Amino acid sequence: MKIELQLIASTLFRLSAIHVFFLKLCSEGPITTNATPLGNETDRLALQLKNAITNDPLGALSSWNESLHFCEWRGITCGNLTFLRSIELGDNKFHGAIPQEVGRLLRLRYINLSHANFEGEIPSNLTNCYNLKVLDLSRNNLTGKIPFELDSLSKLSALILIANHLTGKISPSFGNLSSLQALYLVDNSLEGSIPKDLGRLTRLSNLYVGANELSGMFPN
Ligand SMILES: *[C@@H]1O[C@H](CO)[C@@H](O)[C@H](O)[C@H]1NC(C)=O
Ligand SMILES: *[C@@H]1O[C@H](CO)[C@@H](O)[C@H](O)[C@H]1NC(C)=O
Ligand SMILES: *[C@@H]1O[C@H](CO)[C@@H](O)[C@H](O)[C@H]1NC(C)=O
Ligand SMILES: *[C@@H]1O[C@H](CO)[C@@H](O)[C@H](O)[C@H]1NC(C)=O
Ligand SMILES: *[C@@H]1O[C@H](CO)[C@@H](O)[C@H](O)[C@H]1NC(C)=O
Repeated sequence: MKIELQLIASTLFRLSAIHVFFLKLCSEGPITTNATPLGNETDRLALQLKNAITNDPLGALSSWNESLHFCEWRGITCGNLTFLRSIELGDNKFHGAIPQEVGRLLRLRYINLSHANFEGEIPSNLTNCYNLKVLDLSRNNLTGKIPFELDSLSKLSALILIANHLTGKISPSFGNLSSLQALYLVDNSLEGSIPKDLGRLTRLSNLYVGANELSGMFPN
């Protein structure tokens, strides 16, 4: 018998760190789940998916009882996801805002939250993810400005924000993104001119800014 359950809590980012629960119940072998000791209560509630499992002949979940803290349950490890390098949750139907807490994942290199229904603003705290190489938030319902704070991401090689509802100007300080190779901002409502400062991006090989409300001259 093999039961495989995958639960990505809708509260995914709400807590101290990103919570991804991945639970596998096999006839033998380990159960692996990640949770964090912070944001406790939501984790505990999410683990009540146990109640949906009515057939557990091998007693895999026998330790999942109220007399033990859930961090002690078999197959559960609690910890912050501070070592997370990559988040790839594109092509889903998540909604709500991408929370500022994502900035606590300091080792993130790759974020793909494209093609979901995220709304609200791009979290400025992403600037704390100073190892970030790829940020793909395309095809969501993001609004507001592109946070100028992202200009400090010196390792960023691709910024992909296609098909959102972003407004405001392209910050001239993006000319400081010295590793940038691809800047895709197509299909938003950006205005103002294309900053000549982008000319400092000597590695830039892909610049797509069409389908916006940009004006002025294309900088030399
Ligand atoms: C986790 O839950 C326990 C019991 O509810 C509580 O005592 C503890 O303070 C919580 N830990 C954190 C880090 O929130
Ligand atoms: C809870 O699980 C632990 C570990 O498997 C076990 O020792 C304990 O008897 C269980 N408690 C109850 C009330 O089932
Ligand atoms: C989780 O992060 C908090 C805040 O950064 C820290 O105090 C705590 O020690 C971390 N816990 C683990 C298990 O790494
Ligand atoms: C956002 O980043 C600032 C500066 O590093 C920090 O003080 C703040 O706690 C962060 N906010 C969240 C929700 O993580
Ligand atoms: C970033 O770019 C702006 C505008 O191009 C410039 O004025 C500023 O000094 C730069 N900042 C850093 C830290 O390089």
